[in-house]
Amino acid sequence: MAFENLLLDQSGAVAIITVNRPKVLNALNAPTLDELRRAVLDMKRDDSVRVVVLTGAGEKSFIAGADINELAVQTPITGREHALLGQHVFDLFENLGKPVIAAINGYALGGGCELAMACTLRIAADTAKIGQPEINLGIIPGYAGTQRLARLVGKGKAMELILTGAQITAAEAERIGLVNRVVPAASLMGEVRSLAAALANNAPIAMRYIINAINKGLEMPFAEACVFEATLFGLVAATEDMKEGTRAFLEKRKAEFKGR
Ligand code: COA
Repeated sequence: MAFENLLLDQSGAVAIITVNRPKVLNALNAPTLDELRRAVLDMKRDDSVRVVVLTGAGEKSFIAGADINELAVQTPITGREHALLGQHVFDLFENLGKPVIAAINGYALGGGCELAMACTLRIAADTAKIGQPEINLGIIPGYAGTQRLARLVGKGKAMELILTGAQITAAEAERIGLVNRVVPAASLMGEVRSLAAALANNAPIAMRYIINAINKGLEMPFAEACVFEATLFGLVAATEDMKEGTRAFLEKRKAEFKGR
């Protein structure tokens, strides 16, 4: 399927989505958001994809937010629909059921920070700048930034970042838990590819249930979440991969997981 604003690449079980609007620092306009929706749904269906990487074209920017040309003309009605659509697309990334690694290669601002937060893991170049600058435009985050940021870094830091609109360095983002790891810009894609390759060797159904248990469990009361976890724990016992993983350990060899 052809995409105008995305580049898609697959090597082995790792698919790479690159948002490709470098002239506007990969800002997300409506067609790009729709292409992201289609791409992520394709990857959900495609069993040959076990891990997804999301990055931005060029060296300067991951994604510099929603396209401000569109924001400038929005009405109360289109603004609400726009936010709901963005939230829906980002939910698809969060709940893809396969790890999605955000390779943050530069500015991750506004919708860029929000999309990175919807990813499963975030690896940032040491040159990246991250923030929610909506306040500088007289608006607020609309792609669930107020919610995911508070859940990731805590209420106090989320309030500070969103109220000030500050752009923080990758090192500061790592310190507060907004990104998992910072690496030199030149080695970003190498590091991300090797993490993706390692994850691609893991049991796909177990990874899906881990993502599901953490995402859904955090929305539930603790005791219910534990029952949910126990149910998924029981369910993986039905997989060939559980038999292979435990047998491989006992036979002192490397497991080969099939996703069954
Ligand atoms: N929407 C639309 N266009 C954007 C954009 C966005 N979110 N972010 C950057 N661009 C465009 C700029 O308008 C500029 O276009 P031009 O060459 O036609 O003038 C081009 O991308 C390059 O950006 P520029 O501002 O010249 O680069 P810079 O290095 O001086 O600054 C940023 C980089 C990221 C600090 C700055 O572009 C910026 O603040 N962008 C907006 C970030 C934002 O508020 N995002 C949240 C939106 S809700």
